[in-house]
Amino acid sequence: MKPTILVSGGYGQLGFELSRLAEGMPQFSFVFTDRDTLDITSPEEMQKAFDLHKPAYFINCAAYTAVDKAETEREVAARINAEAVGIIADCCEKAGTQLIHISTDYVFNGKGTSPYQPDAPADPINYYGETKWQGEVAAREKCRNSIIIRTSWVYSEHGNNFVKTMLRLMAQRPELSVVEDQVGCPTYARDLAAAILHIVNVLHTGEKATQPGTYHYSNSGVISWYDFAVAIRDIAALPCEVKAIPSSAYPTPAARPSYSVMDISKIQQVYGVQDVPWRGSLAECMERLKNAAS
Ligand SMILES: NC(=O)c1ccc[n+]([C@@H]2O[C@H](COP(=O)([O-])OP(=O)(O)OC[C@H]3O[C@@H](n4cnc5c(N)ncnc54)[C@H](OP(=O)(O)O)[C@@H]3O)[C@@H](O)[C@H]2O)c1
Repeated sequence: MKPTILVSGGYGQLGFELSRLAEGMPQFSFVFTDRDTLDITSPEEMQKAFDLHKPAYFINCAAYTAVDKAETEREVAARINAEAVGIIADCCEKAGTQLIHISTDYVFNGKGTSPYQPDAPADPINYYGETKWQGEVAAREKCRNSIIIRTSWVYSEHGNNFVKTMLRLMAQRPELSVVEDQVGCPTYARDLAAAILHIVNVLHTGEKATQPGTYHYSNSGVISWYDFAVAIRDIAALPCEVKAIPSSAYPTPAARPSYSVMDISKIQQVYGVQDVPWRGSLAECMERLKNAAS
């Protein structure tokens, strides 16, 4: 019997990319769920899903990701990002299921000056980051074998993200202002999905035993949002002037870390995940977006 991989949040950016890559992995039986088929905040629905599918792996891609709205919708953000992770982790521990949970660079305060290691102290500066940190704590406490993968600045062809917003605005406006004093590492959801499935396959083939713990994954290279916008403009060849502004000129309800760079060497060393530079991935995503539009 093929091992089953149960995926929550299957229609989000990451979930969607996992479903595309799943087609090339016939050694697994994938079950993709969304809020309607598996609400991760419901212990009853979760137990039913475990009883029905008996997953060998659970990849939690479901999350409340509206960073600014989380400042006011606190209860719902905490339920999805923190409490529900405890529900999943409980079920994984009882069933002997390998949990792979996704978290964020926003668990850090952004005051660092060198790439954050996975064991660097967390100190979230917005409520979304706080709930994601609480989710990590729940995963670690309730499921001994949890693998937690923090990622940053996720984009893809699917869903809402910086790349698609920039393309839309750049097509409408002659000029755009973008913050230059927040730096980090973009992550193409497809590369993150490939890294996760690589780990699952390494565990499945027995090439490596599970090494539970916290890992970082992003594309490689450090840029500001301004640099990211300029690259998008250049690849799309749009006649839009991009102006660099400080964060103070673009106030948002949730504070953002200024330095959001994570060290990804642990995931490379432990599981052999490849380093993928951000610019090539951005070009690949934009090519797919162009092809989908034509
Ligand atoms: N996006 C980023 O820039 C970023 C950065 C760092 C880390 N991350 C983390 O990466 C992971 C994947 O992010 P993403 O960008 O793929 O997020 P996404 O596109 O917002 O997808 C999240 C999915 O979770 C679903 N969901 C929300 N509440 C649910 C519930 N109660 N039960 C079941 N599903 C539920 C959402 O469904 P609805 O559409 O119905 O709400 C959505 O399909 C998340 O853990 C996120 O925190 C993301």
